Amino acid sequence: MNLKLKIWRQKDANSKGKLHDYQISNVSPDMSFLEMLDVLNEELIAKGEEPVEFDHDCREGICGTCSLQINGEPHGPDRLITTCQLHMRKFNDGDTIYIEPFRAKAFPVVKDLIVDRSAFDRIQQAGGFISVNTSGNTIDANTIPINKHDADNAFDAATCIGCGACVAACKNASAMLFTSAKVSQFAQLPQGKVEATERVMNMVRQMDLEGFGNCTNTGACEIECPKGISLENIARMNREYLSASLKG
Ligand code: SF4
Ligand code: FES
Repeated sequence: MNLKLKIWRQKDANSKGKLHDYQISNVSPDMSFLEMLDVLNEELIAKGEEPVEFDHDCREGICGTCSLQINGEPHGPDRLITTCQLHMRKFNDGDTIYIEPFRAKAFPVVKDLIVDRSAFDRIQQAGGFISVNTSGNTIDANTIPINKHDADNAFDAATCIGCGACVAACKNASAMLFTSAKVSQFAQLPQGKVEATERVMNMVRQMDLEGFGNCTNTGACEIECPKGISLENIARMNREYLSASLKG
């Protein structure tokens, strides 16, 4: 396949960026999207030009770093996959592909296609954990019976990889789907009940402090989420928040 790429180039956080045109030939439909970018970068390096910077690590859909806005969609045209799992067979010979960083005030561009998603880390640090006594009397988590429905729901919420596609997909740049997944993975387990009140209050407060927008129930986040995190988690977080507010 021969493709025209329109890629966002931005020197650093303080520079203005713009789309640059690149032509790439002989792209195999079996290549992953990131492999296609690797080939482009090899060509750029051979010509003495600066390669396009983009985030990636596992290339297996696990780490959540490969966040690209492809033709206006976070992680591109496929569903329930990350950018590293997207293959060039989803495109046609002669296509023009727009490749941009995730757009959100709370995710400032670091360089080219790389954004700073440390806002997610700070939300997580505000309450996305449980405190466990490790003094020698620790009870094995597996000795606490949990019904399958709750265990499955908690596990589903815990599959969020923190990629940020939910924010990039949302017209308000809301982080409600991410934050609600991180609240929900504990809210449904007995181990998470102890700190439930502070957890939801602190995580929502941090989410607002980071400058993410509000949820207006559009649902784009759920559609673009590579892990299929359900909007039900947002409803659960709202219930947790209301109950915590009444206690506080
Ligand atoms: S909720 Fe989905 S889209 Fe949002 S950070 Fe988690 S995995 Fe990514
Ligand atoms: S590189 Fe890790 S999820 Fe894509």
